[in-house]
Formats: sequence, C-alpha cells, structure tokens
Amino acid sequence: MRPTRDEAWELLCRYTETDALRRHALQVEAAMRHFATLFAEDPEAWGLVGLCHDLDYERFPEQHCVMTKRILTEEGWEKADIRAIMAHGWGMVTDVEPQTNREKALYTVDELTGIINAACLLRPSRSVHDLTLKSLRKKFKDTRFAAGCNRDVITRGAQMLGMELDTVMAETIAGLQARAEICGLQGNL
Ligand SMILES: [Fe+2]
Ligand SMILES: [Fe+2]
Repeated sequence: MRPTRDEAWELLCRYTETDALRRHALQVEAAMRHFATLFAEDPEAWGLVGLCHDLDYERFPEQHCVMTKRILTEEGWEKADIRAIMAHGWGMVTDVEPQTNREKALYTVDELTGIINAACLLRPSRSVHDLTLKSLRKKFKDTRFAAGCNRDVITRGAQMLGMELDTVMAETIAGLQARAEICGLQGNL
C-alpha cells in the first residue's frame, strides 16, 4: 500500500525528532516533487520516498537503509517505494543501484539539497528565494563547504538522469523555492 502524505509525515516524525533531520526530509521531498513534474510523473509517489528516505537515520545510523527496509516492509509499503529509498544509499550503505528516474533523482537531490540548505543558512536572508545558480555553483566547487555532501554522487546522479549539472542545480533550487515555507528555507523574504 502507499500511505497518504499525512501518514508518511506521521511515520517520519515517529522515528525522527531532530528538527534538522525533519527539515532535510522536507527539502528532499520538495525537490522530488519538482523533479516528478519534470519527468511527467506522480509528485505524490516521488515526494513520499523523498520524505521518508532517511527514516532510520536518527535511531539506527549504523544500519542506515537496512532498518528503513525492515520498518517499511512491516508497514506494508510497496516494494518499488522501498527499493527507491534503498537506492539512495547505493555504493555507500547498499548495493541497490538507482535504475528508475525516481531512484536516480533521489540519489542526486539528497546530497544536493544538503549543499543548498547550508548555502541558504549562510545568507543574510537565510532564504532560498535569493539563492542564484551562480552562487550555488561556487559552493559546489568549494569542496570544503558543506564537506559532508558528496559532489561525486551529485555529478554521477546528474549523468544518470541525462541532465546537465547546471540544470539539476537550477531545478533543485526551483523545487525548494516552491515549497520554501514548509521546508524551512523561506528565511526573512
Ligand atoms: Fe540517507
Ligand atoms: Fe538524506
């Protein structure tokens, strides 16, 4: 079965208390919803896996993705949705290679939204609304900035999606702008 947005949010909150992690989940959801529209696919289905992709991270960081699979299987989630979540840890914590566009997008925007979030928090506005592609590109190239966000994953993800890196960055910014309020990136604008 596929849960409603409310049910998925409730599940996430049951396993995740940290504000920063909830915000990360909401940002990845926002980016995924936007990418779904680019591929003319279902924003609900894409947003869902974005929202719950790090479900186990707070409680079981050593078993990341493995515990999520267990929890979501018990919750009766659809196999394809669980697989999409597993694939975001490809080459890091799982051997599930992203195959569908939804899986490739999640793999890519997970790391990229991390850089964007860090970039926004440094701005006087603390907002994504005045973040330019040029500014993000600079932060991307400065590997000491938000060093935990893996640039190779983002570059590889863009290649898998068949998109230019610039396009992926611009579209991810657009997705976060569209849901800035809900994902904590409205700032003071
Ligand atoms: Fe993760
Ligand atoms: Fe994540």
